[in-house]
Amino acid sequence: MKASVILSHPYSESFNHAIFRTVCRTLDELNVEVFKHDLYLENFNPVLSVNELGTDSSNDPLVNQYTAEMMESDLLVFIHPNWWGQPPAILKGYIDRIFRPPHAYDFSEKEGAGGVPEPKLCGKYGIVFNTSNTAEERETDFFGDPLESIWKQCIFAFCGIGGYYRKMFRIVSDSDQALREKWLLEAEQAVEGIVRDFSKTGG
Ligand SMILES: Cc1cc2nc3c(=O)[nH]c(=O)nc-3n(C[C@H](O)[C@H](O)[C@H](O)COP(=O)(O)O)c2cc1C
Repeated sequence: MKASVILSHPYSESFNHAIFRTVCRTLDELNVEVFKHDLYLENFNPVLSVNELGTDSSNDPLVNQYTAEMMESDLLVFIHPNWWGQPPAILKGYIDRIFRPPHAYDFSEKEGAGGVPEPKLCGKYGIVFNTSNTAEERETDFFGDPLESIWKQCIFAFCGIGGYYRKMFRIVSDSDQALREKWLLEAEQAVEGIVRDFSKTGG
């Protein structure tokens, strides 16, 4: 089994980095082959340029590496904070540049780009760990939990990824060390459970 783990947070002492370390360690211990990437550390350029638009190739070695790894991976894991109800721009750029046709989805000649796309990532499992400073009720009732539809529908389902797990850790700004350790244990157990089930069912 293989996994891509993509971290999007600029500060190495953040709770997001702690989640990243926990998830990577857990996958290593389960003998999953892991492609680990900290997008800020690797200085990923999130801007989709005109040269790349509509093409299936890129001159950026990081884009080609991340794309190949995404296609090889059974598990696609994303770790990021809630920034304005969205992923940080660097991760939005990863989605723009890596989840592209014909690798992640494609349009049939008959239906064209206005039709329903052909999903290309079927059989993979999407996992998202988020952090925020908003209470659950306010996030759901007032903001409508935009990250849930962004990941579940707009990205994963669009590309055929049916297996899905997302966990929002909140409220990070009020959390003490004990609560953070409990959250990290939850992340570890979630990953263990998904890997165990995925190994049995094959996705
Ligand atoms: C640019 C920016 C936008 C943010 N937008 C939101 C938001 O929309 N909702 C929210 O609950 N928290 C928001 N936050 C707070 C972060 O989600 C919070 O600091 C982070 O999840 C804490 O995790 P960390 O300790 O790993 O940084 C925002 C923070 C920044 C810097």
